[in-house]
Amino acid sequence: MLIGAGISAESGVPTFRDAGGLWEGHAVDDVASPDGFERDPDTVLRFYDARRRALASVEPNAAHRALAQLETERGDDLLVVTQNVDDLHERAGSRNLVHMHGELARARCTACEARPAWSADLLDRPPCPVCGERMLRPDVVWFGEMPYGLDRIEQAVVACDVFVSVGTSGQVYPAAGYAALAAAFEARTVELNLESSEGLVPFDDARTGPATVLVPAWVDEVLSTS
Ligand code: NAD
Ligand code: APR
Repeated sequence: MLIGAGISAESGVPTFRDAGGLWEGHAVDDVASPDGFERDPDTVLRFYDARRRALASVEPNAAHRALAQLETERGDDLLVVTQNVDDLHERAGSRNLVHMHGELARARCTACEARPAWSADLLDRPPCPVCGERMLRPDVVWFGEMPYGLDRIEQAVVACDVFVSVGTSGQVYPAAGYAALAAAFEARTVELNLESSEGLVPFDDARTGPATVLVPAWVDEVLSTS
């Protein structure tokens, strides 16, 4: 499963490219690029501190819960690859999970590369719990940086029988290329999204609607037909 911001929209987490999305209020290069961080670190740290704080007032929704239920029933057959930096999948109970764009709930030390669990603000430059340097940044993958877990993800994509894309506009690579890769390796491809992402490769099955409706329905289908 490849997940995007759409799955958390109904929990109250804004998406990026929809009307009212995060990229409407912020210049991407200012808050999601290494150059932006170098130019104005306080603005970047404030942006992610606000997003981390906002996690305290949102809850997983029926779509996150359905995927956790599927993992409970199917175990390692399901890998959830999320582009989201929120922690709603793990709070719903998913464990077989890759955060390819990082996590708000971690910091990364640019001095020693430790990635400690993190819940406080970073703006006041707290020390790294491992090396003591005050060089922490959000553990979020910015444009131009290498996403996490690519080897594991690509192995799963080429080996899967069914590839499902949920709530992503399919505009950011490498994630945007995974459906085509899965199809090239004979997987059935399914899209569950509010509106069709109309990617380069058409999905075998494209369903449009809210994630809290489509994902539980798809999980019910899988669990009742096999
Ligand atoms: P990208 O999404 O194409 O790639 C992200 C990072 O992953 C890059 O560092 C890339 O080297 C790496 N990568 C890609 N495929 C890989 C693979 N198979 N194995 C290992 N690493 C891999 O991001 P980008 O290259 O920074 O930007 C692509 C385009 O998106 C640019 O044209 C840029 O202007 C645009 N952009 C759009 C937005 C937006 O939100 N609309 C924001 C920033 C940039
Ligand atoms: N249910 C299902 N899908 C929804 C819902 C909903 N309730 N609300 C919105 N969507 C869909 C939109 O139609 C859109 O296709 O979710 C998608 C969100 O797309 P984006 O905002 O582009 O988010 P995403 O694809 O996750 O972005 C990818 O871009 O900026 C980077 O690093 C950031 O991880 C992010 C990446």
